[in-house]
Amino acid sequence: MRGIVQEVIRSAIVPVAGWGTRMLPATKSQPKEMLTVARKPIVQYVAEELVRNGIEQILFITSRNKTAIENHFDTDPELARLLDSANRRELARELLFEQLHTKFFYTRQRVQRGLGDAILCSENFAGEQPFVVALGDSILGLHAESKAVARMVELFEAKHATCVVAVEQVPAEETSHYGIVQIADGDAGYYRVVRLVEKPPAGLAPSNLAIAGRYVFSPLIFDMIRRVKPDDRGEIQLTDAIQATCEEGKRVLAVCLPSNEKRYDIGNFPSYFETFVEFALADPEYGPEFRKVVERLLAAGVRKSEDKSHKAEVSG
Ligand code: G1P
Repeated sequence: MRGIVQEVIRSAIVPVAGWGTRMLPATKSQPKEMLTVARKPIVQYVAEELVRNGIEQILFITSRNKTAIENHFDTDPELARLLDSANRRELARELLFEQLHTKFFYTRQRVQRGLGDAILCSENFAGEQPFVVALGDSILGLHAESKAVARMVELFEAKHATCVVAVEQVPAEETSHYGIVQIADGDAGYYRVVRLVEKPPAGLAPSNLAIAGRYVFSPLIFDMIRRVKPDDRGEIQLTDAIQATCEEGKRVLAVCLPSNEKRYDIGNFPSYFETFVEFALADPEYGPEFRKVVERLLAAGVRKSEDKSHKAEVSG
């Protein structure tokens, strides 16, 4: 059907099923996607970004211990009444996101078998339509103001692509943490992808262009995922399914994120800390005061990580 009727992409899949083990103990009993960056949980930024990019329905691929995500997007009349009766209408404004113009759907990945397998759980939801995938632990742009997804959708439609991935440059020593793409020559802001490798061993990456948590797919990806063999950890990688798409001779394109729409990764503590501080400093209301606090702390020489006194207290 595609190619005859140009479909406008209105659906997004947000996988949030992962354990978040790199962020224990913070993620022991709450989803990492519910950790806050400045004022909001990460997943709220992701949903707001998608709505800003024209998405009208979002399917979360969840797992056990992720019900806080559903609760967050649900309306809470009791809380709304409480804020109203206590005459605290300015706080009620903080719940306006509950009226986001999108429909929310949830399904569970029952066994953790990797990102590709998680996406396969959305097959019935997607049906015959192309769709966006947005990883639930990545925010694009300061305060999620990126319009990269809308541009990727436009490119997908204009070029009759089978897949479009967002990519960003990473230092050579970090390529082993990402899906890495090899591109053919390109211009006009996008490239043709010729090969992809998920987390290549150090020194073996075909480039330093890393997949950056946003994708547009035609439903063909589901057949490609079914072809993928599990990796040595038993996981079905989405990157391998995109590689299979390339091998089929289908058009896979990459769009490089500009620096003002960079990806904030919440999958590990160093990057989470940095993201939190950057967003808090940019907070229109609290940012200026917080900046002074940070400057004061730095000037006073806050305890450095090599200071072992905290460990001594704990073990003692
Ligand atoms: C996933 C993808 C990887 C991508 C990364 C960041 O890895 O498998 O290709 O580069 O997200 O978007 P993860 O961070 O879940 O290990």
